[in-house]
Amino acid sequence: MSEQGPLLSIAGIEVMYARLALVLRGLTLRVPRGGIVALLGANGAGKTTTMKAVANLLRSERGEVTRGAIHYDGARIDGLDASDLARRGLSLVMEGRHAFGTLSVEDNLKVGAFSRRDRGVGDSLDMVYRYFPRLKDRRLQAAGLLSGGEQQMCVIGRALMARPRMILLDEPSMGLAPLLVEEIFSIMRQLNVDEGMTFLLAEQNAAVALRYATYGYLVESGRVVREGPAAALAADPEIRASYLGLDASAEAGSATLAARRRPRWLS
Ligand SMILES: Nc1ncnc2c1ncn2[C@@H]1O[C@H](COP(=O)(O)OP(=O)(O)OP(=O)(O)O)[C@@H](O)[C@H]1O
Ligand SMILES: [Mg+2]
Repeated sequence: MSEQGPLLSIAGIEVMYARLALVLRGLTLRVPRGGIVALLGANGAGKTTTMKAVANLLRSERGEVTRGAIHYDGARIDGLDASDLARRGLSLVMEGRHAFGTLSVEDNLKVGAFSRRDRGVGDSLDMVYRYFPRLKDRRLQAAGLLSGGEQQMCVIGRALMARPRMILLDEPSMGLAPLLVEEIFSIMRQLNVDEGMTFLLAEQNAAVALRYATYGYLVESGRVVREGPAAALAADPEIRASYLGLDASAEAGSATLAARRRPRWLS
């Protein structure tokens, strides 16, 4: 496998649902090894569809990739199922925290090791508990009784149990209080620094995503409309005005201009 190229490369993909709705229109992005890349965009921009295209989860929704290519670690991954992908080190944490509510936290975590045939599952459990001590405290509790933030930790922990090199993380901040969002994002950064784990992070919350990401892509109607290093995107006046709630022109003394200049991706 190529050691040089990006770990994940999505090249000009189109995705259609039910042979009718063209939702991704030639979307291209790259995730370097060891990077944290943010996929930003408003409701319905196509972030989750992108994640599902990579994880090959579109078929159950009558969706398909009709053009373009997806490579992971130098090889095309079309048609591989979740356990093939997990064995290659790619895990997805879906939007909406799907923990198994009646199973204990620990059993939820063990489910994440389903594709492994080695004997290191106990070590991985220890690692998850080291990163998420709250889960250790609640390990015998039914996952359905956890708070929203703890459930998010539980599903990330479950993904870690497959010992991934890369995690696709869809909207981890959704519905969580700001302090918990910071806690979860800083654990993601710790995993990135300590374990060399690579992340593709879909987020509506651009402010927090750009603080933790190395690079970002802004998606509008299934296409990338802006990309750049996270710091450059965070300093971009249009992104500041429309995504970060900061009125760049007001800072320059011209508030009305910014109020009138409605960015394309909000129309
Ligand atoms: N199963 C489906 N069948 C038809 N259209 C769909 C399906 N799933 C999603 N879509 C449409 O595809 C578009 C992109 O949806 P997607 O869920 O990828 O957006 P998103 O960027 O993740 O949005 P959000 O921030 O709300 O999660 C939307 O217009 C949505 O209505
Ligand atoms: Mg989504």
